[in-house]
Amino acid sequence: MKRLILVGGGGHCKSVLDATLAMHEFDDIVITDPDIPAGNEIMGYKVVGSDEILPELKEKGYHYAFVTVGSIKNTLVRRELVNKLESIGFQFPVICDPSAIVSPTAIIGKGTFIGKRAVLNSEVKVGEHCIINTGAIIEHESVVGDYTHVSIGAIACGNCNIGKNCFLGAGSTLIQGIRVGDGSVVGAGAAVTQELSGECTAVGVPAHVC
Ligand SMILES: CC(C)(COP(=O)(O)OP(=O)(O)OC[C@H]1O[C@@H](n2cnc3c(N)ncnc32)[C@H](O)[C@@H]1OP(=O)(O)O)[C@@H](O)C(=O)NCCC(=O)NCCS
Repeated sequence: MKRLILVGGGGHCKSVLDATLAMHEFDDIVITDPDIPAGNEIMGYKVVGSDEILPELKEKGYHYAFVTVGSIKNTLVRRELVNKLESIGFQFPVICDPSAIVSPTAIIGKGTFIGKRAVLNSEVKVGEHCIINTGAIIEHESVVGDYTHVSIGAIACGNCNIGKNCFLGAGSTLIQGIRVGDGSVVGAGAAVTQELSGECTAVGVPAHVC
């Protein structure tokens, strides 16, 4: 019996739940959320309580947990949740929607979500606890750091190096070989043509730091 807890019951949880169900890997799935009353259901799956119930669930045989809180701009909440789950001893699966196209040479870290129709091409490396959202494309040999969220339809062309805790907005593009430093935020629709040093926000076409 493989039991999974989804931690966070918002919109991102629904995307992850969809992918999880399509994977057919877990026999029992429950959700925790501090703001949704226990007993409520999300897409037919039970909210069983808030974060305080996590140690009890571990005792009951839920060995896998997955953070389903989304992140825009800041990854702090996701990082704190992962630390809490790690301290209780949970394992983190990779959840990859079956419609995603993942090269056999791509490497994906634990706790990472790969959404519908995302593409990870040859020798891509995606870190731990990342979100590679619906339709995002990570081209050959690119690297994505831990906790980074590559949002809907964003494109990293070949050989890009994206740091930790970054956010690439919906439909943004990094041209080939671009380096994006840790904590960078790229606005929706931006075209990044020059290195971003990190801890900055860049918007526009071509992107400028604002
Ligand atoms: C870049 C972004 C993070 C900035 O958010 P913010 O810090 O709240 O900034 P503001 O909305 O206050 O905007 C600051 C300025 O940048 C401009 N701006 C914001 N986002 C922009 C974008 N994507 N492209 C061009 N300009 C943008 C604003 O018009 C504003 O300009 P002004 O100072 O001349 O008025 C945000 O606008 C964005 O693009 N988010 C991505 C959303 C997304 O991809 N969601 C998918 C979720 S899965």
